[in-house]
Amino acid sequence: MSERAAPPVILDCDPGHDDAFAIALAAVHTELLGITTVAGNAPLAATTRNALVVAQVLDLDVAVHAGSPRPLVGEGRTAEFIHGDSGLDGPPPPELHRSALSNDAVRFIVDTVRARPGAVWIVATGPLTNVALALRVAPDLHEHLAGIAFMGGGVPFGNVTPAAEFNILVDPEAAHVVVSSGVRLVMAGLNVTHGWLVDGGVADDLRGTGSDAANFCAALIDYYCDAYARAFSGKAEGPLHDACAVLALTHPELFERESYHVEVELTGTHTRGMTVADLRGVRQSALANVEVLTSIDARAATALLIETFATYR
Ligand code: BDR
Ligand code: CA
Repeated sequence: MSERAAPPVILDCDPGHDDAFAIALAAVHTELLGITTVAGNAPLAATTRNALVVAQVLDLDVAVHAGSPRPLVGEGRTAEFIHGDSGLDGPPPPELHRSALSNDAVRFIVDTVRARPGAVWIVATGPLTNVALALRVAPDLHEHLAGIAFMGGGVPFGNVTPAAEFNILVDPEAAHVVVSSGVRLVMAGLNVTHGWLVDGGVADDLRGTGSDAANFCAALIDYYCDAYARAFSGKAEGPLHDACAVLALTHPELFERESYHVEVELTGTHTRGMTVADLRGVRQSALANVEVLTSIDARAATALLIETFATYR
Protein backbone atom coordinates (compact mmCIF):
# COMPACT_ATOMS: atom_id res chain seq x y z
CA MET A 1 0.00 0.00 0.00
CA SER A 2 1.39 3.41 -0.95
CA GLU A 3 2.78 5.66 1.78
CA ARG A 4 0.69 8.78 2.28
CA ALA A 5 0.04 11.21 5.12
CA ALA A 6 -2.50 9.85 7.62
CA PRO A 7 -4.92 12.62 8.62
CA PRO A 8 -5.73 12.86 12.35
CA VAL A 9 -9.34 11.73 12.71
CA ILE A 10 -12.07 11.33 15.30
CA LEU A 11 -14.55 8.75 14.02
CA ASP A 12 -18.07 9.47 15.27
CA CYS A 13 -20.29 6.47 14.52
CA ASP A 14 -23.28 4.24 15.28
CA PRO A 15 -22.11 0.72 14.42
CA GLY A 16 -23.78 -0.61 12.29
CA HIS A 17 -22.32 -2.97 9.69
CA ASP A 18 -20.98 -0.31 7.36
CA ASP A 19 -19.68 1.70 10.34
CA ALA A 20 -17.53 -1.33 11.18
CA PHE A 21 -15.86 -1.00 7.78
CA ALA A 22 -15.37 2.72 8.36
CA ILE A 23 -13.56 1.84 11.58
CA ALA A 24 -11.43 -0.82 9.86
CA LEU A 25 -10.38 1.58 7.09
CA ALA A 26 -9.81 4.53 9.42
CA ALA A 27 -7.61 2.43 11.70
CA VAL A 28 -5.24 1.69 8.83
CA HIS A 29 -5.37 4.88 6.76
CA THR A 30 -5.78 7.65 9.35
CA GLU A 31 -4.24 8.62 12.64
CA LEU A 32 -7.30 7.46 14.56
CA LEU A 33 -7.48 9.61 17.68
CA GLY A 34 -10.63 8.10 19.11
CA ILE A 35 -14.00 6.58 18.33
CA THR A 36 -17.12 8.32 19.59
CA THR A 37 -20.56 6.75 19.52
CA VAL A 38 -24.05 8.06 19.03
CA ALA A 39 -27.54 6.56 19.05
CA GLY A 40 -28.63 5.67 15.54
CA ASN A 41 -28.74 2.23 14.00
CA ALA A 42 -29.41 0.95 17.52
CA PRO A 43 -29.74 2.59 20.96
CA LEU A 44 -26.56 4.16 22.35
CA ALA A 45 -25.69 1.25 24.67
CA ALA A 46 -25.73 -1.08 21.65
CA THR A 47 -23.79 1.18 19.28
CA THR A 48 -21.17 1.73 21.99
CA ARG A 49 -20.92 -1.99 22.65
CA ASN A 50 -20.63 -2.62 18.91
CA ALA A 51 -17.84 -0.06 18.55
CA LEU A 52 -15.98 -1.83 21.36
CA VAL A 53 -16.58 -5.22 19.72
CA VAL A 54 -15.23 -3.98 16.40
CA ALA A 55 -12.19 -2.36 18.07
CA GLN A 56 -11.51 -5.60 19.92
CA VAL A 57 -11.96 -7.85 16.87
CA LEU A 58 -9.61 -5.60 14.88
CA ASP A 59 -7.24 -5.44 17.88
CA LEU A 60 -7.11 -1.65 17.79
CA ASP A 61 -5.39 0.48 20.38
CA VAL A 62 -8.04 3.19 20.34
CA ALA A 63 -10.42 4.49 23.00
CA VAL A 64 -14.18 4.58 22.61
CA HIS A 65 -16.22 7.42 24.12
CA ALA A 66 -20.00 7.15 24.35
CA GLY A 67 -22.00 10.16 23.29
CA SER A 68 -25.56 11.23 22.89
CA PRO A 69 -28.42 8.78 23.54
CA ARG A 70 -30.98 10.84 21.63
CA PRO A 71 -31.22 13.51 18.92
CA LEU A 72 -31.36 17.23 19.68
CA VAL A 73 -35.14 17.25 19.20
CA GLY A 74 -37.65 14.48 19.76
CA GLU A 75 -37.00 10.76 19.95
CA GLY A 76 -34.59 8.79 17.82
CA ARG A 77 -35.25 6.00 15.40
CA THR A 78 -33.27 2.81 14.83
CA ALA A 79 -32.60 0.58 11.83
CA GLU A 80 -33.18 -3.03 12.90
CA PHE A 81 -34.46 -3.82 9.42
CA ILE A 82 -30.91 -3.45 8.10
CA HIS A 83 -28.64 -4.01 11.11
CA GLY A 84 -30.68 -6.41 13.27
CA ASP A 85 -31.67 -6.05 16.92
CA SER A 86 -28.08 -5.73 18.16
CA GLY A 87 -27.18 -3.18 15.47
CA LEU A 88 -24.45 -5.61 14.37
CA ASP A 89 -26.23 -8.90 13.72
CA GLY A 90 -24.54 -11.70 11.82
CA PRO A 91 -21.27 -13.01 13.24
CA PRO A 92 -21.42 -14.33 16.81
CA PRO A 93 -20.18 -11.48 19.03
CA PRO A 94 -17.00 -12.26 20.95
CA GLU A 95 -16.84 -12.02 24.73
CA LEU A 96 -16.16 -8.32 25.27
CA HIS A 97 -13.05 -7.40 27.28
CA ARG A 98 -13.22 -3.65 26.73
CA SER A 99 -15.31 -0.76 28.02
CA ALA A 100 -15.82 2.85 27.02
CA LEU A 101 -13.22 5.29 28.36
CA SER A 102 -15.88 7.94 29.02
CA ASN A 103 -19.51 8.75 28.39
CA ASP A 104 -18.68 12.30 27.31
CA ALA A 105 -17.92 12.06 23.63
CA VAL A 106 -18.66 15.74 23.15
CA ARG A 107 -15.97 16.75 25.67
CA PHE A 108 -13.53 14.35 23.99
CA ILE A 109 -14.24 15.89 20.59
CA VAL A 110 -13.84 19.46 21.85
CA ASP A 111 -10.61 18.78 23.78
CA THR A 112 -9.06 16.74 20.98
CA VAL A 113 -9.79 19.29 18.28
CA ARG A 114 -8.59 22.20 20.43
CA ALA A 115 -5.35 20.36 21.22
CA ARG A 116 -4.33 20.39 17.54
CA PRO A 117 -5.83 23.51 16.02
CA GLY A 118 -6.49 23.21 12.29
CA ALA A 119 -5.43 19.58 12.06
CA VAL A 120 -8.22 17.28 13.17
CA TRP A 121 -10.99 15.91 10.95
CA ILE A 122 -14.22 14.45 12.21
CA VAL A 123 -15.50 11.57 10.13
CA ALA A 124 -19.16 11.16 11.07
CA THR A 125 -21.01 8.02 10.03
CA GLY A 126 -24.10 8.26 12.20
CA PRO A 127 -26.61 10.96 13.12
CA LEU A 128 -24.76 14.25 13.64
CA THR A 129 -25.90 14.80 17.25
CA ASN A 130 -22.47 14.64 18.93
CA VAL A 131 -20.90 16.82 16.26
CA ALA A 132 -23.61 19.47 16.55
CA LEU A 133 -23.37 19.46 20.34
CA ALA A 134 -19.60 19.92 20.15
CA LEU A 135 -20.04 22.87 17.76
CA ARG A 136 -22.64 24.34 20.12
CA VAL A 137 -20.80 23.96 23.45
CA ALA A 138 -17.51 25.18 21.95
CA PRO A 139 -18.26 28.16 19.71
CA ASP A 140 -14.56 28.32 18.74
CA LEU A 141 -14.54 24.75 17.46
CA HIS A 142 -15.46 25.56 13.87
CA GLU A 143 -12.22 27.58 13.57
CA HIS A 144 -10.08 24.69 14.78
CA LEU A 145 -11.50 21.79 12.80
CA ALA A 146 -9.75 20.79 9.57
CA GLY A 147 -13.12 19.55 8.36
CA ILE A 148 -15.97 17.14 8.72
CA ALA A 149 -16.48 14.25 6.29
CA PHE A 150 -19.91 12.77 6.86
CA MET A 151 -22.04 9.98 5.50
CA GLY A 152 -25.51 11.39 5.26
CA GLY A 153 -28.17 12.69 2.95
CA GLY A 154 -28.50 12.11 -0.74
CA VAL A 155 -28.73 14.31 -3.79
CA PRO A 156 -31.59 14.20 -4.43
CA PHE A 157 -33.01 11.04 -2.84
CA GLY A 158 -33.38 9.29 0.50
CA ASN A 159 -33.66 5.75 1.80
CA VAL A 160 -35.90 5.87 4.89
CA THR A 161 -38.28 8.19 3.06
CA PRO A 162 -38.17 9.14 -0.62
CA ALA A 163 -36.49 12.40 0.42
CA ALA A 164 -34.49 11.63 3.57
CA GLU A 165 -31.53 9.44 4.36
CA PHE A 166 -31.35 7.70 7.77
CA ASN A 167 -28.52 9.63 9.47
CA ILE A 168 -29.99 13.00 8.59
CA LEU A 169 -33.59 11.98 9.29
CA VAL A 170 -32.70 10.77 12.80
CA ASP A 171 -31.43 14.24 13.74
CA PRO A 172 -32.17 16.91 11.12
CA GLU A 173 -31.58 19.74 13.60
CA ALA A 174 -28.07 18.47 14.26
CA ALA A 175 -27.43 18.19 10.52
CA HIS A 176 -28.64 21.77 10.14
CA VAL A 177 -26.11 22.95 12.75
CA VAL A 178 -23.34 21.15 10.88
CA VAL A 179 -24.16 22.41 7.38
CA SER A 180 -24.46 25.95 8.76
CA SER A 181 -21.22 25.79 10.72
CA GLY A 182 -18.79 27.22 8.17
CA VAL A 183 -16.52 24.19 8.66
CA ARG A 184 -15.17 22.52 5.52
CA LEU A 185 -17.69 19.74 4.79
CA VAL A 186 -17.40 16.67 2.60
CA MET A 187 -20.65 14.78 2.07
CA ALA A 188 -20.84 11.10 1.21
CA GLY A 189 -24.54 10.85 0.44
CA LEU A 190 -26.58 8.03 -1.04
CA ASN A 191 -25.97 9.33 -4.56
CA VAL A 192 -22.30 8.27 -4.20
CA THR A 193 -22.54 5.41 -1.70
CA HIS A 194 -24.95 3.51 -3.96
CA GLY A 195 -22.19 3.54 -6.56
CA TRP A 196 -20.19 1.01 -4.56
CA LEU A 197 -22.02 -2.21 -3.79
CA VAL A 198 -20.49 -5.21 -2.05
CA ASP A 199 -21.75 -8.78 -2.17
CA GLY A 200 -20.88 -12.36 -1.24
CA GLY A 201 -17.94 -12.33 -3.65
CA VAL A 202 -16.35 -9.45 -1.73
CA ALA A 203 -17.03 -11.31 1.52
CA ASP A 204 -15.21 -14.34 0.09
CA ASP A 205 -12.27 -12.17 -0.96
CA LEU A 206 -12.12 -10.76 2.56
CA ARG A 207 -12.08 -14.28 4.01
CA GLY A 208 -9.25 -15.04 1.65
CA THR A 209 -7.06 -12.52 3.46
CA GLY A 210 -7.04 -14.98 6.33
CA SER A 211 -7.47 -13.13 9.64
CA ASP A 212 -10.17 -13.52 12.31
CA ALA A 213 -10.91 -9.83 11.80
CA ALA A 214 -11.54 -10.41 8.09
CA ASN A 215 -13.73 -13.45 8.81
CA PHE A 216 -15.83 -11.42 11.25
CA CYS A 217 -16.23 -8.57 8.76
CA ALA A 218 -17.04 -10.98 5.92
CA ALA A 219 -19.88 -12.37 8.05
CA LEU A 220 -21.07 -8.78 8.54
CA ILE A 221 -21.22 -8.36 4.76
CA ASP A 222 -23.19 -11.57 4.35
CA TYR A 223 -25.81 -10.48 6.89
CA TYR A 224 -25.95 -6.92 5.54
CA CYS A 225 -26.42 -7.98 1.92
CA ASP A 226 -29.26 -10.33 2.86
CA ALA A 227 -30.89 -7.51 4.84
CA TYR A 228 -30.59 -5.17 1.84
CA ALA A 229 -32.14 -7.82 -0.38
CA ARG A 230 -35.09 -8.19 2.01
CA ALA A 231 -35.56 -4.44 2.51
CA PHE A 232 -34.89 -3.00 -0.92
CA SER A 233 -33.69 -4.60 -4.09
CA GLY A 234 -34.23 -8.36 -3.78
CA LYS A 235 -30.52 -8.71 -4.66
CA ALA A 236 -27.98 -9.77 -2.06
CA GLU A 237 -25.74 -6.74 -2.33
CA GLY A 238 -25.46 -3.52 -0.39
CA PRO A 239 -23.65 -0.18 -0.23
CA LEU A 240 -20.83 0.25 2.29
CA HIS A 241 -22.05 3.81 2.88
CA ASP A 242 -19.92 4.74 5.87
CA ALA A 243 -16.67 3.50 4.40
CA CYS A 244 -17.04 6.19 1.73
CA ALA A 245 -16.79 8.98 4.32
CA VAL A 246 -13.37 7.68 5.40
CA LEU A 247 -12.10 7.08 1.88
CA ALA A 248 -13.22 10.55 0.79
CA LEU A 249 -10.56 11.84 3.13
CA THR A 250 -7.84 9.24 2.80
CA HIS A 251 -8.21 8.37 -0.91
CA PRO A 252 -9.79 11.41 -2.57
CA GLU A 253 -8.72 10.18 -6.01
CA LEU A 254 -11.45 7.52 -5.83
CA PHE A 255 -14.15 10.18 -6.06
CA GLU A 256 -15.51 13.01 -8.15
CA ARG A 257 -17.07 15.88 -6.25
CA GLU A 258 -18.99 19.11 -6.80
CA SER A 259 -19.43 22.05 -4.42
CA TYR A 260 -23.06 22.95 -3.75
CA HIS A 261 -25.11 24.97 -1.36
CA VAL A 262 -26.91 22.42 0.80
CA GLU A 263 -29.66 23.01 3.34
CA VAL A 264 -31.38 20.48 5.57
CA GLU A 265 -35.17 20.44 5.41
CA LEU A 266 -36.53 20.71 8.96
CA THR A 267 -40.26 21.09 8.48
CA GLY A 268 -41.56 19.43 5.28
CA THR A 269 -44.47 17.02 5.63
CA HIS A 270 -42.86 14.61 3.17
CA THR A 271 -39.35 16.04 3.09
CA ARG A 272 -38.14 16.46 6.70
CA GLY A 273 -34.49 15.40 6.80
CA MET A 274 -33.88 15.98 3.10
CA THR A 275 -30.53 17.44 2.05
CA VAL A 276 -31.62 20.09 -0.42
CA ALA A 277 -28.72 20.81 -2.78
CA ASP A 278 -28.92 23.78 -5.07
CA LEU A 279 -28.03 22.28 -8.42
CA ARG A 280 -28.82 25.38 -10.42
CA GLY A 281 -25.20 26.51 -10.69
CA VAL A 282 -23.11 29.03 -8.84
CA ARG A 283 -24.61 32.14 -10.42
CA GLN A 284 -28.04 31.51 -8.95
CA SER A 285 -27.25 29.56 -5.84
CA ALA A 286 -26.11 30.78 -2.44
CA LEU A 287 -22.47 30.26 -1.56
CA ALA A 288 -21.42 26.61 -1.72
CA ASN A 289 -21.04 25.12 1.75
CA VAL A 290 -20.62 21.40 1.04
CA GLU A 291 -18.32 19.33 -1.18
CA VAL A 292 -20.75 16.69 -2.39
CA LEU A 293 -19.21 13.44 -3.61
CA THR A 294 -20.80 12.56 -6.93
CA SER A 295 -19.14 9.32 -8.03
CA ILE A 296 -16.78 6.61 -6.83
CA ASP A 297 -14.42 4.21 -8.56
CA ALA A 298 -16.08 1.10 -7.13
CA ARG A 299 -13.55 -1.38 -8.49
CA ALA A 300 -10.64 0.53 -6.93
CA ALA A 301 -12.54 0.93 -3.65
CA THR A 302 -13.12 -2.82 -3.41
CA ALA A 303 -9.47 -3.53 -4.20
CA LEU A 304 -8.42 -1.08 -1.50
CA LEU A 305 -10.78 -2.69 1.00
CA ILE A 306 -9.29 -6.13 0.41
CA GLU A 307 -5.75 -4.73 0.47
CA THR A 308 -6.56 -3.03 3.78
CA PHE A 309 -7.87 -6.23 5.35
CA ALA A 310 -4.75 -8.05 4.23
CA THR A 311 -2.89 -5.90 6.78
CA TYR A 312 -5.00 -7.27 9.66
CA ARG A 313 -3.52 -10.24 11.46
C1 BDR B 1 -26.61 5.20 6.96
O1 BDR B 1 -27.59 4.74 7.89
C2 BDR B 1 -27.09 3.68 8.65
O2 BDR B 1 -28.02 2.64 8.71
C3 BDR B 1 -25.78 3.26 8.03
O3 BDR B 1 -24.88 2.84 9.04
C4 BDR B 1 -25.32 4.50 7.32
O4 BDR B 1 -24.57 5.33 8.19
C5 BDR B 1 -27.10 4.92 5.56
O5 BDR B 1 -28.32 5.58 5.34
CA1 CA C 1 -23.71 4.51 10.31
